Amino acid sequence: MPKRQQSALATEAAAAEVETPPSVPAVATETVVVLDYGGQYSQLIARRVREYGVFSELLPHHVAVEEVRKRRPKGIILSGGPSSVYADGAPKLDKELLTLGVPVLGICYGMQLLVLELGGRVEGAEVGEFGRSRLTVHEQGRLLAGTPPDQTCWMSHRDTVYSPPPGYEALASSTASPVAAFESVDRGVYGIQFHPEVVHTPYGQQVLTNFLEEICGCERTWSATSVIEEQIERIRAQVGDGRAICGLSGGVDSSVAALLVHRAIGDRLTCVFVDHGLMRKNEGQQVISAFRDHFKVPLVAVDAEERFLARLAGVTEPEEKRKRIGAEFIRVFEEEAARLDDVSFLVQGTLYSDVIESGGGTGTATIKSHHNVGGLPEDLEFSLVEPLRTLFKDEVRAVGAELGLPDRLVWRQPFPGPGLAIRIVGGEATREKLEVLREADSILQEEIRGAGLYRDLWQSFCVLPDIRTVGVQGDERTYANVIVIRAVTSDDAMTADWARLPYDLLEKISSRITGEIRAVGRVVLDITSKPPGTIEWE
Ligand code: XMP
Repeated sequence: MPKRQQSALATEAAAAEVETPPSVPAVATETVVVLDYGGQYSQLIARRVREYGVFSELLPHHVAVEEVRKRRPKGIILSGGPSSVYADGAPKLDKELLTLGVPVLGICYGMQLLVLELGGRVEGAEVGEFGRSRLTVHEQGRLLAGTPPDQTCWMSHRDTVYSPPPGYEALASSTASPVAAFESVDRGVYGIQFHPEVVHTPYGQQVLTNFLEEICGCERTWSATSVIEEQIERIRAQVGDGRAICGLSGGVDSSVAALLVHRAIGDRLTCVFVDHGLMRKNEGQQVISAFRDHFKVPLVAVDAEERFLARLAGVTEPEEKRKRIGAEFIRVFEEEAARLDDVSFLVQGTLYSDVIESGGGTGTATIKSHHNVGGLPEDLEFSLVEPLRTLFKDEVRAVGAELGLPDRLVWRQPFPGPGLAIRIVGGEATREKLEVLREADSILQEEIRGAGLYRDLWQSFCVLPDIRTVGVQGDERTYANVIVIRAVTSDDAMTADWARLPYDLLEKISSRITGEIRAVGRVVLDITSKPPGTIEWE
């Protein structure tokens, strides 16, 4: 998680020991365990398995074999990883995993570990193989069944397999890998050097399907929405006849968490929406009308704009802005919580990726409580209700859609907790500046949505740096604000690429912003990727 997300408004609350509910949903009669050796695509492997229709859990590679056994998996996948199998301290394979009577598939580092442990030949190579590569299939075997003799695949490795373990069959080779796939059907052990989980391996999903369907005998019974009823039962069991509170931020995670809990316990849930005046145009109203008017969820909407603006007066430094917003948020939330009687549960939209990042969800690690609304203090004495703990973001969206959450909320791009305040860069977040930024942002959003690009972008927004430049409008010389357009594509916000928006669209956005907002005289486009830039400007 980016460091800044841990600060102020988005700070994680106390690292709280929580009783981890069984991580495998009861409806997931079949589970595939993915052991994470630290590869950049590990989460993606788990997601692909779920997309196929089988529940999968991502566990750290060092988890006790007992933890894996307990889940009675139908299959085990060993992920890729950044190490060389020969490096000091490189993660090892616990060979007991191979005695569980469950098929095992090693991918990249996972394959190399299998080869090393089972007596094949894997060696460090001078030249690695990164990116697209040609894969030549000599034998389809079971793993590569239905894929052509000559295909493209995605590689990312330096160690190379030269011969499979004795008694195992080599299936394929690539430009730089004498053995790019092997199997032993009798032993139930399979390996591939390439990454089937990325889109650049066109037959990747076929290979995963072969493993899940033909080799593990999985049935496609799982979907994100299939857990809804079960989650509702779990929430009822946890909360009993108690009362719960949920901070709504307008984002999809807290919205879906709130809706699930409302389905479970009805009006014993109260949502609190703190409008800090730093939201985008009409956003507060959308949250209120969806929850209060449409879903009839008891909602306390606090118009706290004045309080936040007062706290932000004279503050130009971004960290200080975050700190003040975070502190004020806690104050408002606590005041509202104190008005409600007998509330002992706090609902949070913690996602599976948060669980993985803070310890792996094995039930043994200390799980940090994560939240989307604000840095709640450590001494708030609530038990946490986290109905999204087993779901990835795209799955939460599917659940939200199933529960009838409006598209606007289901597909909302991420928005930082401190809101527009950190997009007024180098200057004070005054009401006037917020208004300029909000208007410009609204035009941008409208045009991006109109062009059908909203869902393709990770984020798209405007930034208002604290500078003015000269211009000319009509016959007059102007000295006005600059608006920066920032639009990025990304999978997880850890890296991002600047979006290649069509010129015609940019032109329309620029002329609308300068035409409709008097205070803006110039529009510029940020063409920096992350790294080296970050997504936000601050
Ligand atoms: P950066 O700017 O570090 O942002 O590339 C990565 C992602 O995190 C979001 N972000 C925040 N989200 N509270 C949040 O809830 C924050 O304080 C915060 N700061 C950045 C940012 O919008 C991007 O999606």
